[in-house]
Amino acid sequence: MNRYGVFGNPIEHSLSPIIHTQFAQQTGCEIEYEKILAPLDDFAKIAQEFIDKGAKGFNITVPFKIEAFNLATQHSLNAQTAGAVNTIKINGNELMGENTDGIGLVNDLTKNLNIDLNNKTLLILGAGGATRGILLPLLKQQPRRLMIANRTASKAVDLAKDFSAYGKTCGFGLDKVKNDPVDVIINATSASLDGKMPDIASGVANGAICYDLMYGVQTPFMDWAKANNAKMIADGLGMLVEQAAAAFEFWTSKQPDTQAVIQNLRR
Ligand code: ATR
Repeated sequence: MNRYGVFGNPIEHSLSPIIHTQFAQQTGCEIEYEKILAPLDDFAKIAQEFIDKGAKGFNITVPFKIEAFNLATQHSLNAQTAGAVNTIKINGNELMGENTDGIGLVNDLTKNLNIDLNNKTLLILGAGGATRGILLPLLKQQPRRLMIANRTASKAVDLAKDFSAYGKTCGFGLDKVKNDPVDVIINATSASLDGKMPDIASGVANGAICYDLMYGVQTPFMDWAKANNAKMIADGLGMLVEQAAAAFEFWTSKQPDTQAVIQNLRR
């Protein structure tokens, strides 16, 4: 029985054990997958104990993704550019760090929702860790333009500069969002946690695909998208399952059927 798990704080709400157990059943892998609550100041120690027990790998969620980056001994390009790790594969003494968040989002958009991002105009709201984690895989889809709008404009400008080698990006303040429609808007702010939707020009949503990285709740962003004629509104449940699938494949080289798991969770 191969041992895996997910570290976070809080962790009780995590759907990862359910998702990975279904993947394992589908692919005939024998795995044990547990939720591990790490103390805020002791992630590395708890992770090392898990490694010493012979674990094969683990996921890392809020707030330990940067600490997981520091723990990893090798980093994929996704992990390097994200500056954060959500998946570690244990290979002898090596801890291979990967970040599957962006791949998860892109796979949900392109495969599950059938959205072609090539040559499209994308607008991301927010310039924190969540945005940094999704930029490289989004830019690899070669959008016409990827705009980052943030409450603190300088953070959006800096982030866009960091990724300029990978595609056409620009950053600005939320107040500079134009009233012209874009193809896809992604909400990567944590404003919903305060029950808020950033105050931006509403015409940008007209006919747009509006995607919230959050899942399990109708967010103020989703309400705003509906009120402003969005073409499609999606939450981040598909991304959650797809990022898990990319982690599962990284560990086991097996590709699970994500659609079945998404349908199960929605039910
Ligand atoms: P995460 O890891 O979830 O990205 P983060 O790094 O703390 O968390 O980033 C939170 C993002 O949400 C930031 O872009 C933040 O804007 P600032 O950079 O100006 O702080 C954005 N955010 C949080 N609350 C917001 C609000 N009420 N309105 C607009 N943006 C908000």
